[in-house]
Amino acid sequence: IDRKVILAIESSCDETSVSVVENETIILSNIVASQVKSHKRFGGVVPEVASRHHVEQILSCLEEALEEANVSAKELTAVAVTYGPGLVGALLIGISAAKAFAWANQVPLIPINHMAGHISAAKFVDPDIRYPAMALLVSGGHTELVYMKEEGSYAIVGETRDDAAGEAYDKVGRVMGLSYPSGKEIDEMAHLGQDTYQFPRAMLHENNYDFSFSGLKSAFINTVHNAEQRNESLDKNNLATSFQASVVEVLTDKTLRACEEYKVQSLIVAGGVAANKGLRESLLETVDTSKLQLIIPPISLCGDNAAMIAAAAFIEMKKKVTATWDLNAKPGLSF
Ligand code: KG4
Ligand code: ZN
Repeated sequence: IDRKVILAIESSCDETSVSVVENETIILSNIVASQVKSHKRFGGVVPEVASRHHVEQILSCLEEALEEANVSAKELTAVAVTYGPGLVGALLIGISAAKAFAWANQVPLIPINHMAGHISAAKFVDPDIRYPAMALLVSGGHTELVYMKEEGSYAIVGETRDDAAGEAYDKVGRVMGLSYPSGKEIDEMAHLGQDTYQFPRAMLHENNYDFSFSGLKSAFINTVHNAEQRNESLDKNNLATSFQASVVEVLTDKTLRACEEYKVQSLIVAGGVAANKGLRESLLETVDTSKLQLIIPPISLCGDNAAMIAAAAFIEMKKKVTATWDLNAKPGLSF
């Protein structure tokens, strides 16, 4: 078979990443430079700081990705880049680098939706996903159920009405005095406690596929503040367990209901929160894998990275999608 090699660039938020992927699913390199440390002291991502870091990191990431892959620029079939959704300044750094690099090497530029990238990480687990499929997309900015009639086709059937799941984790983490982003730490604490606080399960019984996490967040914050006022001590592990139990139950239940109603053959879980051990365990326990194929990427490919952008680019390349040289960032890009 002829060899196709894509170099992909991801810079939508707080990771600068460049990856080289061969023939759809062979990851030759996947360099991720995280800026998380620089944002920690601000308790969240500061757009200006993010842009500056991307500028500083992008060229060395690019060189490192090619070197580790042992691929020369001449061997590339295409360059892919995330053009949204994300922070406009951050996106523009990746886009500018991708344009310059593709132009200089006379290869096409493929524009990629960051969320399609997260979903495409599933290709590294199973290149032959069965369709129709449902994707549960859970990240810091998004919580969506996406129906995929076939590969590369995306239709949102449900989404959060307020906070994204990852955002809720980060916000309650801040109240518990944890540093940003706190999803991983809460996940670890959740495995040490019990569901003693019985927080609400929002929209669990409503006849739609939407989510809401702001009520849960408020219930959590009220519990903490009330305890502080009365000088009562709180069991932080139990708080984490109770919070996670609510998130995981709602996500699992509604996702499985959507899979049934839309009669899909597979379920893909994607995005930073797909790294959540509680969610992974709950889905592994609940899904009848003889009826529904369950695909959860390895934790290393759940967070932002450019390998997933390359995987999505192979799909777009089959559809002959390319960008023109005036490609612009689309911060609010949706499906
Ligand atoms: O996809 P991602 O890396 O960036 C966005 O596109 O948003 O997701 C980041 C989010 C953060 O909110 C972080 O707290 C959350 O994913 N996260 C987790 C876990 N690991 C990362 N949330 C819950 N449990 C985890 N283990
Ligand atoms: Zn992401």
